[in-house]
Amino acid sequence: SPGAGLGPEAEADPALLRASSPELARRLRGQALVRGGFVSEGEAAELLREVEPGLGRGRYQSDHWDRAITGYRETERGLRGGAGRALLLRVTPAFPPRRPPRPSAHVLDLLPGGRVGPHVDSVKFCGCTIAGLSLLSPSVLRLRSLRDPQDWLELLLEPGSLYVLRGAARYEFTHEILPDEESFFGGLRVPRGRRVALIFRNDPPGENPPKSPLEPFTPAP
Ligand code: OGA
Ligand code: MN
Repeated sequence: SPGAGLGPEAEADPALLRASSPELARRLRGQALVRGGFVSEGEAAELLREVEPGLGRGRYQSDHWDRAITGYRETERGLRGGAGRALLLRVTPAFPPRRPPRPSAHVLDLLPGGRVGPHVDSVKFCGCTIAGLSLLSPSVLRLRSLRDPQDWLELLLEPGSLYVLRGAARYEFTHEILPDEESFFGGLRVPRGRRVALIFRNDPPGENPPKSPLEPFTPAP
């Protein structure tokens, strides 16, 4: 099936992942994944056409206190077009069968100079799995251990790639999108342009999960 290989047994594309140590890479195997070319250029263009109207002509914002995020617009959006529905189906295998992704995606539009500071998605509003599709610009997603900050992982997010965070990578590491001036993947400079991400999350356990999709974040300590 098209989403096969996204479950906990899956491995990241090694060319798209760097780790502070081989031990850490091993420990997070299956918990921090990145897949290049998850959607084609045609699908990417269609997805952008679907979500851009929802971003409207809204002004870009700054200094969202909890994610230390700057230069961004965002919306929560049900994907009702053909490309969006197909994408939702294809990311679903990344989620546990009983905890599927919410049908609406978090659409995050970051300016070239924007960043998402280190944070852990709120356990109150978000469940065990996060899957993000990157469009338009490449970027670097860095994870850093809350307990041992010298332990880090970096994922190269090319346009059309999908990443998945779960387990320790979701709960015990902060994640961030590096700002342009720090945007390197090892020796590789990754110049940041405007980037649009479609982020899928599931609900946290509990009978009546709160519904406040755009305030699901807690700051890094
Ligand atoms: C977030 C986040 C990462 C991304 O909005 O919580 O971590 O891929 N975004 O844009
Ligand atoms: Mn996040």
